[in-house]
Amino acid sequence: MSRVKLVVANWKMYLSIHEASLLTHRLHKSIKTHRNVEVVLAPNYLSLQPLSQEIDRRRFRLAAQDGYFVDEGAFTGEVSLSQMRDLVHYAIIGHSERRRFFQESFDETRDKVAAAVRNGIVPILCLGETKEERSQKETKQVLHDQIVTALSNITSEDAENIVLAYEPVWAIGANEPASPDTIKEAVDWIRYQVRELYGSKTEESIRVLYGGSDEPEYVSGIMAIDGVDGLLVGRASLNYERFSDIVTGVYLAALGETKE
Ligand code: PGA
Repeated sequence: MSRVKLVVANWKMYLSIHEASLLTHRLHKSIKTHRNVEVVLAPNYLSLQPLSQEIDRRRFRLAAQDGYFVDEGAFTGEVSLSQMRDLVHYAIIGHSERRRFFQESFDETRDKVAAAVRNGIVPILCLGETKEERSQKETKQVLHDQIVTALSNITSEDAENIVLAYEPVWAIGANEPASPDTIKEAVDWIRYQVRELYGSKTEESIRVLYGGSDEPEYVSGIMAIDGVDGLLVGRASLNYERFSDIVTGVYLAALGETKE
């Protein structure tokens, strides 16, 4: 089954409003429109509004990097998913940096997924084990727990549109991505969990991304893995040439070609 490929630029807490705008301008010049590849930019909250005016919506969509699950209220410093509903198409939810540095719990991730869906925003739910969990052979258990908890309030109809991203914590900000065998094993397991929860129709519709040290030279190898529908890119997305090459690589993979 052919699912539309997806490449997400996670700019994390980098780039001023001006720098984000400049990078977007360069990406408009360097990335061609590909019908079967969706390109999504996830700047920090401050840049969402200006970029929503700047982007050509036929070529780019916007994502929030997070969002609070209560729609409005006395929560100083938070921005709710409800407040971003007209600005973004997607929201990254449960990124390991949220779990690690901000103590985001499984239950909060679950509530954010539900809030995104309630507000018409597609969650990009991040999943992945730490180095310690992998060495303790807990990867499958961790992925299972993350999926089952985060999707516990989601119907099968809504689940079809959700995006899952396998992001092993030890491969984020590392020298190279996880190996194709490792990615394949995790993605197969993630898809199996979705099938168990919702059945094969949902599993066939749902998109699963890989994230962690994605660079242009790894794209064809990762995209050749059955069940992988795209990439969640951190560092390389801050450079317009590397990110454009990644998008091109995903496009070529979608065509069933390799770059050579
Ligand atoms: P990285 O980050 O590409 O810099 O490893 C990926 C991510 O955190 O989504």
